[in-house]
Amino acid sequence: MTAPTSPAGDRPLEGRVALVAGASRGIGAVTAAAFARAGAAVVLGARDLEATRSVADSIRAEGGRAVAVATDVGDAGSSERLVRCALEEFGRLDAAFNNATDGPLPAPLADIDPDDFDRGIRVNVRGTFLGMKYQIPAILGSGGGAIVNMASIAGLQGTANLAAYVAGKAGIVGLTKVAALDYADQGLRVNVVAPGPILTHRLREAGEEAQRMAGLATPMRRVGQAREVADAVVWLCSDRSSFVTGTVLPIDGGQYAGNKPPRMYRQGPPQGSPREARQEPPAYRRSP
Ligand SMILES: NC(=O)c1ccc[n+]([C@@H]2O[C@H](COP(=O)([O-])OP(=O)(O)OC[C@H]3O[C@@H](n4cnc5c(N)ncnc54)[C@H](OP(=O)(O)O)[C@@H]3O)[C@@H](O)[C@H]2O)c1
Repeated sequence: MTAPTSPAGDRPLEGRVALVAGASRGIGAVTAAAFARAGAAVVLGARDLEATRSVADSIRAEGGRAVAVATDVGDAGSSERLVRCALEEFGRLDAAFNNATDGPLPAPLADIDPDDFDRGIRVNVRGTFLGMKYQIPAILGSGGGAIVNMASIAGLQGTANLAAYVAGKAGIVGLTKVAALDYADQGLRVNVVAPGPILTHRLREAGEEAQRMAGLATPMRRVGQAREVADAVVWLCSDRSSFVTGTVLPIDGGQYAGNKPPRMYRQGPPQGSPREARQEPPAYRRSP
């Protein structure tokens, strides 16, 4: 099956079919809506079918095409069903975003329950593997396309108290590179995004002070918005990124570039000098 030729304008996915695994809320839901606005029909999967249906309903209310499917990404049959649904409902699959995550609450490594650790690895590593395992033949059968996996800045460097999450996201980065190499010469591109702090329900529930601290930890001194991730995923799934594969894209306000400490200590005067004390701490910036 031949992929539709490079659509122009602000609908770079016109005529395409995209799948989002982990689409019931947050970044997955916002990206599903962004896919639809870019012209794609969208298949949404997550465990909470009611929540996923309501995301699909809101996409249809905006004039898009969307269908919701109850999905557990750690289950092979369920992941395969999600792909089959795209083929049965819309006749093809051009793009997939593997976004689901689950796992233990933050704790020092020795305090993590082994079953909770397994849950994190099951959804992040096995879920991304299974997603790609069934998406790849469907995308190749549709004439080629793109997959984007969801990692985190925490998959690129250590983060205290997040052993399962860091291991899972680092695993996703590795899986992405292997898949990109395996299919680079067959018209299938595979990339991974690595966000820093993004304002979704978790950070919202953590409260304003947690949001302020998370923002100040980035060089841009703010947290990101889900749509800033969605825009990058849509670009990576469109022909506008046609020579990009196997890449890790941090979306993190500069966090991965290195440190931008709240205060700089100049060479010369001893730390704690009156001159240093006069330096203002950075201001927290509201997201656009
Ligand atoms: N928010 C951030 O600051 C941030 C930063 C870096 C990376 N990320 C990554 O971005 C992704 C989205 O995060 P988020 O903040 O939007 O919120 P989230 O609540 O963590 O989103 C997770 C999504 O995955 C789904 N999910 C969980 N287990 C699943 C399973 N077994 N099968 C299918 N779907 C499953 C959830 O839906 P159900 O519960 O309905 O299944 C939900 O839709 C995650 O991979 C996260 O690690 C987020």
